[in-house]
Amino acid sequence: MTDCILLRRCRLLHPTQPIVEVDIWVERGRIAAIAPRLEQSAPFELDVQGQLVSPPFVESHIHLDSALTVGEPRWNQSGTLFEGIEIWRDRKQSLTLDDVKQRAIATLQQQAMQGVLFVRSHADVSEQNLIALKGLLEVRDAVKDWMTLQVVAFPQDGLYGSPNNEALMQEALELGADVVGGIPHYELTREDGVKSIHRIFALAEQYDRLIDIHCDEIDDEQSRFLEVIVANAIRTGMGDRVSASHTTAFHSYNNAYAFKLMGFLQRTCINFIANPLINITLQGRTDTYPKRRGVTRVKELWQQGQNVSLGHDCVQDPWYSLGTGNMLDCANMAVHICQMTGTAEIDACYNMVTWNGAKTLHLQDQYGIEVGKPANLIVLDASDRYDAIRRRATVRYVISRGKLIATTEAPITHWKGGR
Ligand code: FE2
Repeated sequence: MTDCILLRRCRLLHPTQPIVEVDIWVERGRIAAIAPRLEQSAPFELDVQGQLVSPPFVESHIHLDSALTVGEPRWNQSGTLFEGIEIWRDRKQSLTLDDVKQRAIATLQQQAMQGVLFVRSHADVSEQNLIALKGLLEVRDAVKDWMTLQVVAFPQDGLYGSPNNEALMQEALELGADVVGGIPHYELTREDGVKSIHRIFALAEQYDRLIDIHCDEIDDEQSRFLEVIVANAIRTGMGDRVSASHTTAFHSYNNAYAFKLMGFLQRTCINFIANPLINITLQGRTDTYPKRRGVTRVKELWQQGQNVSLGHDCVQDPWYSLGTGNMLDCANMAVHICQMTGTAEIDACYNMVTWNGAKTLHLQDQYGIEVGKPANLIVLDASDRYDAIRRRATVRYVISRGKLIATTEAPITHWKGGR
């Protein structure tokens, strides 16, 4: 494979500026030049014919350790989060390193082929041998030439759900997990939940890691651990190193409380991660009618300037039997459930699976199509963000670290009917 690629006639997407048509020169893994017309020639030129060129998609929240296990050992018939946790508790008894690695790499390849080059995955560290974590740490290394993977040490059964879990979390951080996770709403008591958040912040400071907590993933309007995360973020100054995943109870809070919380949020800059495909599926299961949507207040958080990104959470596992790993599915679903159909709102949903995700993962200057940055970009069969989301456009080319790693033909349908 050549070290240089010249991309001609790119409609280059920018986070805040209008789209411009440019050529892009890629050399030795980096963006070497961007200009309306580059005069040099390269052994490998790709005329993208005015298709959309975007930084890669960012998957902010997935569980690769459970991906592709749907139906093992049984199907989730109730469709609830809690039946999913029970099924996973059984399935994880038979985890092996090869099992985890094979499914995780298959899922990452599936995502990379659809333009995802940055992924944050949770690894269950409630399991006594830490097989899920060790497997994903090996995967992180195995895929590093084409995918950036962050691994979250996630205590699925609670940090205090059984006596060994706190020590397992610490061992996971010693082994090299990138992010400290948590699940305060699933701890045995509210007090344990609060205590777990204080402990997570202390561990993150001790090991110099990011934080990503499954927070208030329930329809219970009394589940109020987000305020504890916000208070810790304010007091420690950890701000943008902290992410609150799901926060689905925020949907159900009374407005007086929600507005107060929105005010507190202005004093810090934590990231929010919504998982619209699974939130709309799992939440509201105990409602009759009206049935709540159970997705956090994405539009209001975005309007207030908080960083919101999106994830799948699950792909074909005990909690969600569907999913293909396509981030445009997440963005498309967010547009619908969060009622973000205004033009700026649709564009914002695209940003939630690109630039905002990069902010959540703390990628800093590793992300974006600018001269000098690593050459990670995708070409979509679309004219702009709206077109990409509406049609869930095909990702035609995926360039990772300066190399073309995947191509996909856009489907062509020929009309054979009458007039
Ligand atoms: Fe999750």
